[in-house]
Amino acid sequence: MFYDARKNDHGLPRDPFKAIVTPRPIGWITSMSAAGEINLAPYSFFNGVSSRPAVVMFSSEGRKDSLAFIQETREFVCNLATWELREAMNLTSAPMPRGVNEMQAAGLEPAPSRLVKPPRVAASPCALECALLQIVPIEDVGGQAIDCHVVFGQVIGVHIDDRFIRDGMLDTAAMKPIARCGYQNYAVVESEFKMVRSKD
Ligand SMILES: Cc1cc2nc3c(=O)[nH]c(=O)nc-3n(C[C@H](O)[C@H](O)[C@H](O)COP(=O)(O)O)c2cc1C
Repeated sequence: MFYDARKNDHGLPRDPFKAIVTPRPIGWITSMSAAGEINLAPYSFFNGVSSRPAVVMFSSEGRKDSLAFIQETREFVCNLATWELREAMNLTSAPMPRGVNEMQAAGLEPAPSRLVKPPRVAASPCALECALLQIVPIEDVGGQAIDCHVVFGQVIGVHIDDRFIRDGMLDTAAMKPIARCGYQNYAVVESEFKMVRSKD
Protein backbone atom coordinates (compact mmCIF):
# COMPACT_ATOMS: atom_id res chain seq x y z
CA MET A 1 0.00 0.00 0.00
CA PHE A 2 0.98 3.65 -0.34
CA TYR A 3 -0.71 6.70 1.12
CA ASP A 4 -0.21 10.45 0.98
CA ALA A 5 0.88 11.31 4.51
CA ARG A 6 -0.23 14.93 4.06
CA LYS A 7 -3.80 13.68 3.67
CA ASN A 8 -3.24 10.70 6.01
CA ASP A 9 -5.57 8.69 3.74
CA HIS A 10 -4.18 5.28 4.74
CA GLY A 11 -7.64 3.85 5.30
CA LEU A 12 -6.44 1.97 8.38
CA PRO A 13 -8.25 2.29 11.73
CA ARG A 14 -5.13 3.85 13.32
CA ASP A 15 -2.33 6.00 11.88
CA PRO A 16 0.61 3.61 11.25
CA PHE A 17 3.35 6.30 11.35
CA LYS A 18 4.54 5.61 14.89
CA ALA A 19 4.52 1.85 14.19
CA ILE A 20 7.04 2.53 11.38
CA VAL A 21 9.42 4.85 13.26
CA THR A 22 10.15 2.20 15.83
CA PRO A 23 11.45 1.26 18.33
CA ARG A 24 11.95 4.78 19.67
CA PRO A 25 14.17 5.21 22.74
CA ILE A 26 12.46 6.95 25.62
CA GLY A 27 13.95 10.11 27.09
CA TRP A 28 12.48 10.20 30.58
CA ILE A 29 13.01 13.88 31.18
CA THR A 30 13.45 15.63 34.52
CA SER A 31 13.25 19.40 34.50
CA MET A 32 12.88 22.22 37.03
CA SER A 33 11.00 25.52 36.84
CA ALA A 34 12.55 28.84 37.86
CA ALA A 35 10.52 28.51 41.09
CA GLY A 36 12.10 25.10 41.81
CA GLU A 37 9.14 22.87 40.85
CA ILE A 38 10.19 19.47 39.52
CA ASN A 39 8.74 17.70 36.51
CA LEU A 40 9.26 14.21 35.10
CA ALA A 41 7.76 12.91 31.85
CA PRO A 42 8.58 10.40 29.09
CA TYR A 43 9.30 11.50 25.52
CA SER A 44 9.81 8.92 22.77
CA PHE A 45 10.46 11.45 20.04
CA PHE A 46 13.90 11.34 21.59
CA ASN A 47 17.35 10.47 20.36
CA GLY A 48 21.02 11.30 20.29
CA VAL A 49 22.10 13.49 17.38
CA SER A 50 25.84 13.90 17.96
CA SER A 51 28.53 12.03 19.89
CA ARG A 52 31.39 14.57 20.12
CA PRO A 53 30.11 16.43 21.96
CA ALA A 54 27.17 14.27 22.99
CA VAL A 55 23.92 15.99 22.00
CA VAL A 56 20.37 14.72 22.50
CA MET A 57 16.97 15.95 21.36
CA PHE A 58 13.35 15.43 22.28
CA SER A 59 10.21 16.77 20.73
CA SER A 60 7.23 18.24 22.56
CA GLU A 61 3.95 18.04 20.65
CA GLY A 62 2.36 21.12 22.16
CA ARG A 63 3.71 23.34 24.89
CA LYS A 64 4.05 20.82 27.69
CA ASP A 65 5.46 21.39 31.18
CA SER A 66 8.89 19.93 30.36
CA LEU A 67 9.29 22.45 27.53
CA ALA A 68 8.10 25.35 29.70
CA PHE A 69 10.46 24.41 32.57
CA ILE A 70 13.45 23.92 30.25
CA GLN A 71 12.75 27.30 28.65
CA GLU A 72 12.89 28.82 32.14
CA THR A 73 16.03 27.14 33.51
CA ARG A 74 17.84 25.76 30.41
CA GLU A 75 18.68 22.41 31.99
CA PHE A 76 17.27 18.89 31.96
CA VAL A 77 18.14 15.27 32.71
CA CYS A 78 17.36 12.26 30.49
CA ASN A 79 16.85 9.15 32.62
CA LEU A 80 16.92 5.70 31.03
CA ALA A 81 13.50 4.01 31.13
CA THR A 82 13.84 0.29 31.80
CA TRP A 83 11.61 -2.80 32.03
CA GLU A 84 11.76 -2.59 35.83
CA LEU A 85 10.65 1.05 35.80
CA ARG A 86 7.98 0.69 33.08
CA GLU A 87 4.93 1.19 35.33
CA ALA A 88 6.47 4.22 37.05
CA MET A 89 7.46 5.67 33.67
CA ASN A 90 3.90 5.27 32.46
CA LEU A 91 2.49 6.94 35.61
CA THR A 92 4.65 9.99 34.94
CA SER A 93 3.01 10.47 31.52
CA ALA A 94 -0.38 11.27 33.10
CA PRO A 95 -1.49 14.86 32.51
CA MET A 96 -1.01 16.56 35.87
CA PRO A 97 -1.35 20.24 36.72
CA ARG A 98 1.84 22.26 36.25
CA GLY A 99 3.83 22.18 39.48
CA VAL A 100 2.80 18.63 40.50
CA ASN A 101 5.96 16.56 40.98
CA GLU A 102 5.42 13.39 38.90
CA MET A 103 8.47 11.84 40.52
CA GLN A 104 6.74 11.93 43.88
CA ALA A 105 3.38 10.94 42.37
CA ALA A 106 4.96 7.81 40.88
CA GLY A 107 6.76 6.93 44.13
CA LEU A 108 10.22 7.47 42.64
CA GLU A 109 13.19 8.61 44.72
CA PRO A 110 15.16 11.56 43.36
CA ALA A 111 18.96 11.57 43.37
CA PRO A 112 20.93 14.81 43.06
CA SER A 113 22.52 15.70 39.76
CA ARG A 114 26.12 16.97 39.75
CA LEU A 115 26.18 19.72 37.12
CA VAL A 116 22.51 20.69 36.71
CA LYS A 117 19.70 21.45 39.17
CA PRO A 118 16.95 18.99 38.08
CA PRO A 119 17.37 15.70 39.99
CA ARG A 120 17.70 12.33 38.31
CA VAL A 121 15.61 9.22 38.95
CA ALA A 122 17.67 7.29 41.53
CA ALA A 123 16.45 3.88 40.34
CA SER A 124 17.34 4.49 36.70
CA PRO A 125 20.66 2.87 35.71
CA CYS A 126 21.77 5.81 33.51
CA ALA A 127 21.10 9.53 33.41
CA LEU A 128 22.34 12.27 31.10
CA GLU A 129 22.66 15.75 32.58
CA CYS A 130 21.97 18.24 29.78
CA ALA A 131 22.38 21.96 29.12
CA LEU A 132 19.90 23.47 26.67
CA LEU A 133 21.34 24.36 23.26
CA GLN A 134 18.31 25.31 21.18
CA ILE A 135 14.54 24.96 20.98
CA VAL A 136 13.47 24.69 17.36
CA PRO A 137 9.80 25.29 16.47
CA ILE A 138 8.80 23.05 13.55
CA GLU A 139 6.81 24.20 10.51
CA ASP A 140 5.18 21.93 7.93
CA VAL A 141 6.00 21.97 4.19
CA GLY A 142 3.50 24.81 3.73
CA GLY A 143 5.35 26.96 6.29
CA GLN A 144 2.61 26.58 8.92
CA ALA A 145 3.68 26.26 12.57
CA ILE A 146 2.60 22.83 13.83
CA ASP A 147 3.00 23.41 17.59
CA CYS A 148 5.90 20.97 17.75
CA HIS A 149 9.04 22.09 19.56
CA VAL A 150 12.33 20.22 19.36
CA VAL A 151 14.61 20.66 22.34
CA PHE A 152 18.33 20.09 21.81
CA GLY A 153 20.67 19.67 24.78
CA GLN A 154 24.36 19.03 25.19
CA VAL A 155 25.12 16.19 27.56
CA ILE A 156 27.46 17.61 30.18
CA GLY A 157 27.30 14.87 32.82
CA VAL A 158 26.71 11.12 32.63
CA HIS A 159 25.66 8.80 35.46
CA ILE A 160 26.03 5.04 35.03
CA ASP A 161 25.19 2.42 37.62
CA ASP A 162 28.53 0.58 37.93
CA ARG A 163 26.72 -2.76 38.23
CA PHE A 164 26.11 -2.62 34.49
CA ILE A 165 29.73 -2.07 33.48
CA ARG A 166 31.30 -5.41 32.52
CA ASP A 167 34.86 -5.70 31.19
CA GLY A 168 34.93 -1.94 30.70
CA MET A 169 31.77 -1.88 28.57
CA LEU A 170 28.21 -0.92 29.36
CA ASP A 171 25.96 -4.01 29.21
CA THR A 172 22.90 -2.45 27.57
CA ALA A 173 20.83 -5.63 27.43
CA ALA A 174 21.31 -6.20 31.17
CA MET A 175 19.65 -2.82 31.88
CA LYS A 176 16.63 -3.88 29.78
CA PRO A 177 15.87 -0.47 28.27
CA ILE A 178 12.33 -0.12 26.95
CA ALA A 179 11.40 1.63 23.73
CA ARG A 180 8.18 2.86 22.20
CA CYS A 181 6.58 1.10 19.24
CA GLY A 182 3.25 1.88 17.57
CA TYR A 183 -0.16 1.92 19.20
CA GLN A 184 0.11 0.80 22.86
CA ASN A 185 3.16 -1.36 22.23
CA TYR A 186 6.65 -1.24 23.62
CA ALA A 187 9.85 -3.18 22.97
CA VAL A 188 12.42 -4.27 25.51
CA VAL A 189 16.09 -4.75 24.68
CA GLU A 190 17.16 -8.04 26.22
CA SER A 191 19.70 -9.23 23.68
CA GLU A 192 22.14 -7.64 21.25
CA PHE A 193 24.04 -8.90 18.23
CA LYS A 194 27.41 -7.82 17.03
CA MET A 195 28.34 -6.75 13.51
CA VAL A 196 31.67 -5.22 12.62
CA ARG A 197 31.33 -2.08 10.50
CA SER A 198 32.17 -2.52 6.78
CA LYS A 199 35.43 -1.03 5.57
CA ASP A 200 35.48 1.22 2.49
C1 LIG B 1 6.24 6.24 26.36
C2 LIG B 1 5.69 7.62 26.12
C3 LIG B 1 6.31 8.43 25.20
C4 LIG B 1 5.85 9.76 24.95
N1 LIG B 1 6.49 10.53 24.03
C5 LIG B 1 6.08 11.80 23.83
C6 LIG B 1 6.77 12.64 22.89
O1 LIG B 1 7.75 12.25 22.26
N2 LIG B 1 6.34 13.92 22.73
C7 LIG B 1 5.28 14.40 23.44
O2 LIG B 1 4.92 15.57 23.26
N3 LIG B 1 4.60 13.64 24.34
C8 LIG B 1 4.99 12.35 24.55
N4 LIG B 1 4.34 11.56 25.46
C9 LIG B 1 3.27 12.13 26.27
C10 LIG B 1 3.83 12.93 27.44
O3 LIG B 1 4.63 12.10 28.28
C11 LIG B 1 2.66 13.49 28.27
O4 LIG B 1 1.96 14.43 27.48
C12 LIG B 1 3.11 14.12 29.57
O5 LIG B 1 1.96 14.45 30.33
C13 LIG B 1 3.92 15.37 29.35
O6 LIG B 1 4.34 15.79 30.60
P1 LIG B 1 4.77 17.27 30.96
O7 LIG B 1 3.64 18.19 30.55
O8 LIG B 1 4.94 17.15 32.44
O9 LIG B 1 6.05 17.55 30.23
C14 LIG B 1 4.74 10.24 25.67
C15 LIG B 1 4.10 9.39 26.61
C16 LIG B 1 4.57 8.09 26.82
C17 LIG B 1 3.89 7.21 27.82
